[in-house]
Amino acid sequence: MDYLHQEIPSQKVSQARIAGIYLFGAHRALDPDFINKLSLETIKNAFRTKARCFHPDLHGGRPPETVEKNRQWFIKVKESYEILKDFVACQTFEPEAAVVRQKRIIAVGGAKGGIGKSTFAANLGVFLAAQGRRTVMVDLDLGGANLHLYLGKTSVKKTINDYFSRAVSSLGELIMPTKFGPHLIGGDSSQLGSANVSFSAKMKLLKSLRELDADYVIIDLGSNTSFNMLDFFLAGDSHLVVTTCEPASYLEAYNFIKVGLLRRLNRLFGEESADPGQKNFGLQSLIHEATMSPNGSKANNIPALLERVKAGYPDYLPLLRETLAAYQPYLVVNQVIDVQDVPPIIRRIQDVARKVLAIKVRYLGTLPFMETVKRSTLNLVPEVARNSRGPLAQRMAAMSKEL
Ligand SMILES: Nc1ncnc2c1ncn2[C@@H]1O[C@H](COP(=O)(O)OP(=O)(O)O)[C@@H](O)[C@H]1O
Ligand SMILES: [Mg+2]
Repeated sequence: MDYLHQEIPSQKVSQARIAGIYLFGAHRALDPDFINKLSLETIKNAFRTKARCFHPDLHGGRPPETVEKNRQWFIKVKESYEILKDFVACQTFEPEAAVVRQKRIIAVGGAKGGIGKSTFAANLGVFLAAQGRRTVMVDLDLGGANLHLYLGKTSVKKTINDYFSRAVSSLGELIMPTKFGPHLIGGDSSQLGSANVSFSAKMKLLKSLRELDADYVIIDLGSNTSFNMLDFFLAGDSHLVVTTCEPASYLEAYNFIKVGLLRRLNRLFGEESADPGQKNFGLQSLIHEATMSPNGSKANNIPALLERVKAGYPDYLPLLRETLAAYQPYLVVNQVIDVQDVPPIIRRIQDVARKVLAIKVRYLGTLPFMETVKRSTLNLVPEVARNSRGPLAQRMAAMSKEL
């Protein structure tokens, strides 16, 4: 059976495949049928073999650098073993229930400010909470945190900054209830340097988001394309990009989608790859050319990149294809005055994304421009809470169904 058509989130498949590279080597892990052939027995055997090679206690008398290198490999091998064990357990026991129970992280981004990302995120959260889903909203607009205002709170005592500064030991300690249903982990951008987060703190946060006690985690993002912002965006299971009908906004939306893809590819194969065995600088420079090259002299789009990878690095082709297939951002068009403006914008972005980036962009829905929404920001009452059967609530119902 083709693993892409099983009901396993593709992010999990990619993670398992990367872990597989450590235990089984790239050749076997990149075999399209690798995932289907996995069993607890094969994983255990592969782990035993690798552990014999790298376990720090098994090879005395080696130079310290070799011992340290082996120790690092052993940590990776052990982590990979745990990932694959969990993966196989999920497949074996009630796979459908496992998928349904899984927490969904919804990232709401878009590179332009003032287009309604936080308004949309807050109202989606209120809607999901009203459906009985435990929903935690996280303000990751580190430079302009204001999600609390959209959920009726004028200030937040403990914020995400307390997590970064280790004033609290777990992310869960920051969760607070709001009057309107969803729970909140608030932000605070009033301190100088609030937006600066180290790589390790960011990685810890991304892991902790997965461990939050929630059915839905909604991440509200800032209006820039910094690496941190893109990594937060990519941490979602669903990637929502908000835009309006203005050209400045939808061009930024496309750009955001594009740099998100570039970041994902670089995190997979480049300098910051989670997997040293996966780093490939030749491939990385091809990716760079494919997405950044200002002229057409080299591979300046992803279909051309695929051709070059096929010729130069064929082992990497399945993982690259899989990564492209898994990245399907959703567009949300907000503050719409005339619905007729929407289809050409969606079509244009979808066409360019398909041709240039070889990815599928999905359309999630449209929200009208509403005076009541504008006012709700002033009254600190989200529109969906004020009018739980109104037009905005109906749009949220349709969109959450799609998600
Ligand atoms: N659908 C809408 N209709 C009317 N006003 C809106 C709508 N969506 C957002 N707004 C207004 O736009 C402003 C910016 O919204 P905000 O959510 O803070 O944007 P962002 O998070 O993208 O910076 C707010 O005053 C908000 O009330
Ligand atoms: Mg905002």
